[in-house]
Amino acid sequence: MRLLSSRHAKLALLLCMPMLAHASTFELPALPYAKDALAPSIDASTMDIHHGKHHQGYVNNLNAEVEKDPRLAGLSLQQILEGVSAYAPAVRNNAGGHFNHSLFWHVMAPPVEVGQSSDALSAQIVADFGSMEAFKTQFSEAASKIFGSGWAWLIVTPDGTLQISTTANQDNPLMDTVTPRGTPILGLDVWEHAYYLNYQNKRMDYIAAWWNVVNWNEVSQRFALTR
Ligand SMILES: [Fe+2]
Repeated sequence: MRLLSSRHAKLALLLCMPMLAHASTFELPALPYAKDALAPSIDASTMDIHHGKHHQGYVNNLNAEVEKDPRLAGLSLQQILEGVSAYAPAVRNNAGGHFNHSLFWHVMAPPVEVGQSSDALSAQIVADFGSMEAFKTQFSEAASKIFGSGWAWLIVTPDGTLQISTTANQDNPLMDTVTPRGTPILGLDVWEHAYYLNYQNKRMDYIAAWWNVVNWNEVSQRFALTR
């Protein structure tokens, strides 16, 4: 068995996913809450389709790519992403889709369970954005301006600072094809499949409601793992 770095192992643990990819071993992680637990911010039908159909599709397609390309056997999801330029576009799309959604479910929680940003994370947010409110405003604006499908991220850069970034499609900041690169500790899916049933074209309403279910306990824990 290939040894994983401490960082890889911690991330895999957080994502509740297999650390190694043998053929057809990537699996859809269970939601950490009931499908209606994020309502009214995110309705149960959207959660059901998003998790059970879209995310499952990325997992199935990724496993099909692992079967096709022997270079992928034995690699963790993070290892695939960090070297994704070497593989077929379908690997980029589906490994990204699997990682992004696995993170997304965990950085949300029912409003009574979201907690607060840790002192360390709050201090870094103030240092890099001025205030929590300024951070939320900048993040929301970045997410609203993504043209078409994509994600908004809060990443920890290699120098330890926080940065807001956006990616198209199912790209993410771990990929060697993406700039800036960093460790994502919060991500927001702005594909229409994430909100259209309830919000139709009103992406900003979805973003505003999403803040009510951001799991600050989880985001703070992910930030702590980067220190
Ligand atoms: Fe999605």
